[in-house]
Amino acid sequence: MSLPVRNRLARWTWGLAYAFLFRPSPIPCHAWRRSILRLFGARVGRGAHPYPCCRIWAPWNLTLGDHSCLGNGAECYSVAPVTLGAHATVSQGSQICTATHDYNDPAFPLVSRPVSIGPRAWVAAEAFIGPGVNVGEGAVVGARAVVVKDVPPRAVVAGNPARIVKWRRYEHQCLDPDSQRREEPAPLS
Ligand SMILES: CC(C)(COP(=O)(O)OP(=O)(O)OC[C@H]1O[C@@H](n2cnc3c(N)ncnc32)[C@H](O)[C@@H]1OP(=O)(O)O)[C@@H](O)C(=O)NCCC(=O)NCCS
Repeated sequence: MSLPVRNRLARWTWGLAYAFLFRPSPIPCHAWRRSILRLFGARVGRGAHPYPCCRIWAPWNLTLGDHSCLGNGAECYSVAPVTLGAHATVSQGSQICTATHDYNDPAFPLVSRPVSIGPRAWVAAEAFIGPGVNVGEGAVVGARAVVVKDVPPRAVVAGNPARIVKWRRYEHQCLDPDSQRREEPAPLS
């Protein structure tokens, strides 16, 4: 499936801005990169840290909450919307992937679903978050985990496929009173 010309032109323009303005900027220049992302339609909160080597497919589909962080080498394949809540962190080398293909259709169409990473959640290094996944508030996704199902608030998940290994002891006051759960580890499925 080919994407509309308008989309391809916008991504080509973004590619130039990324190569010449965003990627070469010194690490501390988060405000500069926030401005570039806003120019390309991203919703970017106060104090967000988009690191220079993160990769964003379409900034107009990206929302970065206040003080959230998109680390170096994090790949944001934002064919559909990607939302990082306030204080959420996506560490280096992680892949936030909003699209797949319908492999049963001979035309092999692109199918996309939004991904959200909840407030204060942490996606650790080189984890994969698949299309349609919601990572709950304060959850932790372990390094190199493969997450294809929603992660409950405060769960710590790891492995491929990701399973709950423990629950986070959370000292910050929770932003969402409905997510005050503490349960025994259970399989994600
Ligand atoms: C997920 C994580 C935070 C959990 O740390 P922890 O609370 O100390 O967890 P534990 O070491 O007690 O592990 C609990 C269980 O999960 C398993 N586990 C932990 N992390 C795992 C991972 N990434 N992949 C697979 N299994 C993992 C442990 O083997 C252990 O299993 P067991 O109970 O059968 O022995 C940590 O393992 C991790 O992945 N850290 C990320 C490091 C990183 O990305 N650093 C870059 C920072 S910017």
